[in-house]
Amino acid sequence: MQPPWWQTGVVYQIYPRSFADTRGNGVGDLPGVEAHLDHLAWLGVDAIWLSPIYRSPMADFGYDVADYRDVDPLFGDLDDLDRLLEQLHDRGMRLILDWVPNHTSDQHPWFVESRSARTSAKRDWYVWRDPAPDGGPPNNWVDAFTGAPAWTWDETTRQYYLHLFLPQQPDLNWSNPEVAAAMQDVLVYWLDRGVDGFRADVVHLIGKDDDLADDPPDRVGQHHAAFQNNEVTHAYLRDLRTMLDGYPGERMMVGEVNLDSTEAVATYYGHGDELHLAFNFALLHTPWDAEAWRASIERIDAAYAPRRAWPTWVLSNHDQPRHRSRYGSLRRARAAAVALLTLRGTPFLFQGEELGLADAEVPPERRVDPGGRDGARAPIPWTPDAPHGWAGAEPWLPWPPAVGAHNAATQRSQSASTAQLYRHLLARRRASPALRHGAMTWLDTPPGVLGYRRSDGDDERVVLVNFADETATFDLPGWCVEVDSLLPAATGAAFGGALAPEQGLLLARA
Ligand code: GLC
Repeated sequence: MQPPWWQTGVVYQIYPRSFADTRGNGVGDLPGVEAHLDHLAWLGVDAIWLSPIYRSPMADFGYDVADYRDVDPLFGDLDDLDRLLEQLHDRGMRLILDWVPNHTSDQHPWFVESRSARTSAKRDWYVWRDPAPDGGPPNNWVDAFTGAPAWTWDETTRQYYLHLFLPQQPDLNWSNPEVAAAMQDVLVYWLDRGVDGFRADVVHLIGKDDDLADDPPDRVGQHHAAFQNNEVTHAYLRDLRTMLDGYPGERMMVGEVNLDSTEAVATYYGHGDELHLAFNFALLHTPWDAEAWRASIERIDAAYAPRRAWPTWVLSNHDQPRHRSRYGSLRRARAAAVALLTLRGTPFLFQGEELGLADAEVPPERRVDPGGRDGARAPIPWTPDAPHGWAGAEPWLPWPPAVGAHNAATQRSQSASTAQLYRHLLARRRASPALRHGAMTWLDTPPGVLGYRRSDGDDERVVLVNFADETATFDLPGWCVEVDSLLPAATGAAFGGALAPEQGLLLARA
């Protein structure tokens, strides 16, 4: 049986505010996505994940949803979304929408009603509690961005409500079956419109302990969202999985389980009956070091294998500094891309990593994100000259560095560019069952070199990434270069056994 598309494909994350502005307000929009589908098709991705496009007051740039069933006017309207979906499907690409189940905006009609009176029919849709005996918050939890208490006092009804993120993002109470049903209806609404799947935002947080006990002393002051891991969430996920698998077509859910422990993340796959995929952020936090990479990857394999859970790989997203900035050079970022697109699992790309973008320098007066994540969210430059393919108004965040070289038009026109590297890797991956779903075994490489073999029947590939800043040697007769991170277009040469500093190679049998 063929594995499902979300196991063999490559997903490209679009952060719509920063992708492309067609209307001249400095914020990207859905027609901007539509205008650049050629770029995504040229690159060869299989699916796009759109960060939230719903109606929102934008306190957390869309992760505070005021209406789950409509598009925010800033991005366009439902017709724009339907058209985008149709065009993606015409090109054989899928669409994954972000779904934010843990919290709504404080402007969502559900919360407005909930906070109106203690007797409101929706009071119990959120997490309300009386103050502690001293009048302070009900427990010692702190929120994810500011480290302030995760509770806000409501003067009208004289209780606190819980928010693991901003005060403008009140947590839903999933233990109320009406909430679970309403949130499931949201999924059905979008499935009926034809979307192929969902990226479930901080989905490990939806299940809360009834007693909301204080965090233990060794956790006091740490963001509660980083370690809450309750058994009851698994039951909610099983219900969602049953619904998704019962829906016609191959629909899926990839969950953001933002827990430090790989072993804990693995449990969110259940026994093939919870999330189809869970993000695995280990490499976001692994330094530029071959041994550390190998240890991270082995640890993930060890945690996932007993559950037959399919891994995912991420080097950059809208919440973290870009990997080019983390690793300190484009050369390293390119070598890392060879691994990202050849490891066993589903890779998730973040818009602009294929252009070799670094984070923008955001001066204090232009910082807008309460979580300090502006740098990675800089606008995507499409052309070398201002306004870089945007509609003219100054974008909501500054441009990333070196847009003259790191823009889509220039990158696509140069054979040795980062965009060409990604394109070649994606094409080779598409053509190789070994890379798409084959087994992976480690090679006995010298220190500083990460090396593995992928295989599926007769189809075999070898990947070598030299993390060191000096030449490494590895004797491997009978193999030739399929993609070279330094010269992506030059293929077919026999592999002579030398790896340049910070070079990544994809090899095929000669
Ligand atoms: C997730 C999102 C992040 C957002 C947070 C709260 O971590 O990726 O951008 O701020 O959830 O919704």
